[in-house]
Amino acid sequence: QSLQAYNTFGIDVSARLFARATSVNELKELLNSPEAKSNKVLFLGGGSNMLIKGDLDYFVIKLELDGIDLLEENEQQVLVKAGAGVVWHEFVMQTLDKGWYGLENLSLIPGCVGASPIQNIGAYGVEIKDRFESLEALNLETLKVETFGLSDCRFGYRESVFKQELKGKYVILSVTYRLTRAANINTSYGIINQQLEEMGVTNPTPKDVSNAVIAIRQSKLPDPKEIGNSGSFFKNPIVTNEMAEAIKIIHPNMPSYPVDDNHVKLAAGWLIDQAGWKGKQIGNYGVHKKQALVLVNYGGASGQEIYQLSEDIIADIVEKFGVKLEREVNIIE
Ligand code: EPU
Repeated sequence: QSLQAYNTFGIDVSARLFARATSVNELKELLNSPEAKSNKVLFLGGGSNMLIKGDLDYFVIKLELDGIDLLEENEQQVLVKAGAGVVWHEFVMQTLDKGWYGLENLSLIPGCVGASPIQNIGAYGVEIKDRFESLEALNLETLKVETFGLSDCRFGYRESVFKQELKGKYVILSVTYRLTRAANINTSYGIINQQLEEMGVTNPTPKDVSNAVIAIRQSKLPDPKEIGNSGSFFKNPIVTNEMAEAIKIIHPNMPSYPVDDNHVKLAAGWLIDQAGWKGKQIGNYGVHKKQALVLVNYGGASGQEIYQLSEDIIADIVEKFGVKLEREVNIIE
């Protein structure tokens, strides 16, 4: 089975065995099958945050659990539950259409609902943890469904317990979000205001904010349907104040954002751009022309080639700035 259509990088690799799970029962049956017992299992959602290095000697189970349910509502708030396989952007659009607000800044993020808590997806001043109520996940050892609340998930910047201690131990089945009926616009990122101004909007609704975010993302980030990619390939590195000050002696214009009293976050895209990688093309893959944080597959590149490019970038940024970038995408091998 080719996985090319199931990873947004568009890497053409095959899986030893492949099946789809459209319900929790189907998923349990698959996990009880001889195929699952005698092979390594890999769960695939939207395939939007992974780089597959080569053919996979795995039993790949594609999660297609759908459904959007209103669990609770009052005059101020709603609790909405979405299946792990619901396409994230379609979910955001549906909530906005219903007048349930809070996800507008997270418009057009690729992938599915089930991946949103794993790396605490975020953009333009909002992270999923800010709207999160709970999630249901299947314990792969007991095959029992367990519920995780906000503190159980230990969210951080592009982090959660599911990338750390519980990695590979659970499959997320559904996520419940707490949204509001009243608009509570977050335009803390100046670029949103700029975009709204350009669009001639003075009193923005959440739908306007969503449209602004869509326009900004479309102007900088490649559409995976056209050019294979996984969004930001690296995390923005968090360094000590001293480290940032030292770099600023040579690069006074370097952007940095306070994290706590002793640390700041640097823009990995800026570092990679300064190092001269932006728009660099090597054969049929390279660094995106408009956002240096995004690696792209123009068609036909192998996972190994893109991985090697990321290694070269990491080494170069260490050499030039003394900062070690960490990958944001999961490397599958
Ligand atoms: N910059 C450059 N050159 C570049 C790219 C960026 O100089 O090639 C500079 C920008 O001018 C800006 C700074 O770096 O001063 C930050 O850039 P930007 O606002 O584009 O955001 P980012 O830090 O590169 C992060 C997230 C994105 C998210 C945006 C908006 C991470 C790893 N990435 O990118 O998330 O959409 O902020 O909030 O945190 C993703 O995770 O896949 C993703 C796209």
